[in-house]
Amino acid sequence: MTTGIRFDGVSVAYGGDVVLDSLDLTVEPGEVMALLGPSGSGKTTALRAVAGFVRPVSGRVFIGDRDVTDLPPHRRGVGMVVQQYALFPHMRVDANVAFGLKARRAPKDGIAARVAEALEMTGMSAYARRYPRELSGGQQQRVAIARALAVRPGVLLLDEPLSALDARLRSDMLAELARLHRDLPDVSMLYVTHDQMEALTLADRIALMDRSRLQDCGTPQDLYRRPRTEFTASFVGTANLLPVTVTGDGVRFAGAVLDVPAGTAAPGAPATLCVRPHAIGLGEGPNALRGKVTEAQWRGATHRLCVDVAGHRVTADVGEPHGTPPLGTEVTLHFAARDAVLLPAAAAGAGGGAAHG
Ligand SMILES: Nc1ncnc2c1ncn2[C@@H]1O[C@H](COP(=O)(O)OP(=O)(O)O)[C@@H](O)[C@H]1O
Ligand SMILES: [Mg+2]
Repeated sequence: MTTGIRFDGVSVAYGGDVVLDSLDLTVEPGEVMALLGPSGSGKTTALRAVAGFVRPVSGRVFIGDRDVTDLPPHRRGVGMVVQQYALFPHMRVDANVAFGLKARRAPKDGIAARVAEALEMTGMSAYARRYPRELSGGQQQRVAIARALAVRPGVLLLDEPLSALDARLRSDMLAELARLHRDLPDVSMLYVTHDQMEALTLADRIALMDRSRLQDCGTPQDLYRRPRTEFTASFVGTANLLPVTVTGDGVRFAGAVLDVPAGTAAPGAPATLCVRPHAIGLGEGPNALRGKVTEAQWRGATHRLCVDVAGHRVTADVGEPHGTPPLGTEVTLHFAARDAVLLPAAAAGAGGGAAHG
């Protein structure tokens, strides 16, 4: 069974507050789509609209070519995993995994085989007779995933499934989820997270949410290399966002003219120049920026330098061989034109000049 997910103008409101505003989004069959955005942006709400736990005030939800908007959750063919494991504490692992199948009145003799298969897929076969309290957090989350897979869903919905785990376990589980997806190439996954690393690592495409709306959607590489807005630039990866003015032959920043393609922007227009910290080098070169080092962090393979350039903070990740210049040192930074992206200036109050992350 290959099934995608389609949101067709889906809006959700709570007591008159629109928390999901006309979402149009298609997850292709077998695709992993991350829904990425800050807390409160409407990600969980979108997921719950697919699962059938919230009813849209307008729009339709499709799974495959079926309009499921009016179907109850158990008839939608979805599996769901949430942050707080949500296992039944008084049931052993195998009973937890069988739960969804029993609720759907699956034939008895088939249930044991399905449970065994799902526990095998998540590496939990040896723990079938344990109670949830006898498992670590990571193991409990594997059981929750096994439970979602036992019904052989066409789509798997995951809502911040790794948030409760510590950093090391999170990265192991991320690799596990990627493997699981390779084992189940027909299952579409919608993966809600506020963590850009998870989205960049796991997703075929990222749908970026902010303030109840879809802001951008593309492959991780596309959003990282060619962001279209300041929000995307600062939420996917780390970005220097420099306020510039478009000139005839480039842009003006802090008194200097920088040679970057201005595209169709009109001379005199304000704009924002996005340059990733790793694209900025130390020393003389094209598009030189001069300033004083205000912060220096050693990060093993790189140093992160913050440099005050005419009152603007510019962040550069430079290679280890340079050593760390002492604070207050006058330095020159540079970057190649091809590593810069010119963005429309954000409305006042949005975005900012500082690097995030
Ligand atoms: N059951 C609810 N009743 C009222 N408001 C809700 C409910 N669930 C979520 N909200 C509100 O909807 C908005 C979006 O929430 P949510 O989809 O959970 O965001 P996210 O998952 O991106 O953090 C938030 O402002 C939240 O407070
Ligand atoms: Mg949420």
